[in-house]
Amino acid sequence: MILEATTPSTIEEEFNPRLSAEARFDAAAAQLGLDDGMQKILRSPSREIIVHIPVLLDDGRLEVFTGYRVQHSIARGPAKGGIRYAPDVTHDEVRALAAWMTWKCAVVNIPFGGGKGGVICDPSLLSPTELERITRRYTAEILEFIGPEIDVPAPDMNTNEQTMAWIMDTYSMHVRHTQTAVVTGKPIALGGSKGRTEATGRGCMIVCDQALRHLGLDRASTRVVIQGFGNVGGMAAKLMARAGYKIVCIIEWDGAIYNDKGIDIAALMKHRKDTGSILGFAGGEEIDRNEAVFLNTDILLPAAKENVITSQNAHRLRAKILCEGANGPTTHVADSILSDKGIFVIPDILANAGGVTVSYFEWVQDRQGYFWNEQMVNDRLEEIMVNSFQDVVAYAQKHGVNNRLAAYMLSLDRVAAAIRTRGIYA
Ligand SMILES: NC(=O)c1ccc[n+]([C@@H]2O[C@H](COP(=O)([O-])OP(=O)(O)OC[C@H]3O[C@@H](n4cnc5c(N)ncnc54)[C@H](O)[C@@H]3O)[C@@H](O)[C@H]2O)c1
Repeated sequence: MILEATTPSTIEEEFNPRLSAEARFDAAAAQLGLDDGMQKILRSPSREIIVHIPVLLDDGRLEVFTGYRVQHSIARGPAKGGIRYAPDVTHDEVRALAAWMTWKCAVVNIPFGGGKGGVICDPSLLSPTELERITRRYTAEILEFIGPEIDVPAPDMNTNEQTMAWIMDTYSMHVRHTQTAVVTGKPIALGGSKGRTEATGRGCMIVCDQALRHLGLDRASTRVVIQGFGNVGGMAAKLMARAGYKIVCIIEWDGAIYNDKGIDIAALMKHRKDTGSILGFAGGEEIDRNEAVFLNTDILLPAAKENVITSQNAHRLRAKILCEGANGPTTHVADSILSDKGIFVIPDILANAGGVTVSYFEWVQDRQGYFWNEQMVNDRLEEIMVNSFQDVVAYAQKHGVNNRLAAYMLSLDRVAAAIRTRGIYA
């Protein structure tokens, strides 16, 4: 089915990540002058699988869960993307996220297309054994459509390295040999990669370093505000503080901590581990979390959720650099406001691509059967993130567009070029 182009006009539409992604696709396709036929190809998922999975619950009842796997593109390599478990998973959402993965893999120039999967279920109501049965049956149902050369899933919302271990095991049992490269995000003991946990946060730091260099700033005088103190935000905070950045504010769902002299991130992590919250931390003052994103700062790093910067508040942003650790923290309508304000945006499909890049390294290591040390993983991640940043900024300058549009144009261009060169198999 072809995804229709739509321009968000109401707040509800502005907040719909699918419509935001499509609006950006449209802008990039128009700027590139992509012909209608190529636009149709790039808008259409290459393959969509829907499965209805019967699962025996712990109390003896049978339940049927619906699962999806969408492979948006395999033009540049196997499909790549996560599998999420949530009660509100929809086919439409999985489709949009699969396309997003195509652009993300293309912008960092790794040899993957894009895919995404999901199962409609509420993990908070399911036991580990029920989740295992759902995972194994879902894997068995999509078995011939995944594989190291076909489609390589990974964790996403409410799935983790244990889920990946079950998928790897189920797949391996069916193909009659251990095949670790069928998924990434596995435990290290089962073919996972060193450096994967820190990879997305590390990638954020690398592109921030590049932005500082581009703008003639230095780490020591750079103030950073981070929203979200989880995997991406927490790792970015830890690594950036260690590298000399001044992290002046951490924003969480229940409050924000501010320290003009820079927060001791290791101490805040320990405090949160001990108490379950960043609040009550002695090393900073508590400020209004809704106002904290508008602090006068050099870098704002949203790493929590989507739709944080919108048409309603983008004019209030005072950061020089916006590094999008989260997926979709800025709505499409806010893009032009940020552009007009001259904010240097490092768009999500570039800024948070460190995770999928180290997933690529995991796949390479599994296929080689040879595992790299952490320094090698980090060095290669740095090389890819630096090259990708430079590609995007050079593209933006060459075409006179902002960084986000440049990132989309660059990735569409790469995928379109692959399709044209391969030709259409009749
Ligand atoms: N983990 C990865 O490798 C990765 C890769 C690419 C993109 N992302 C994206 O980054 C974002 C964060 O992912 P994560 O893996 O760090 O998740 P996470 O669950 O580990 O962390 C998210 C953090 O944000 C906090 N949070 C939630 N709502 C908030 C709010 N309203 N205000 C402030 N803080 C809030 C949570 O309490 C949590 O600490 C998501 O958009 C995700 O899709 C993650």
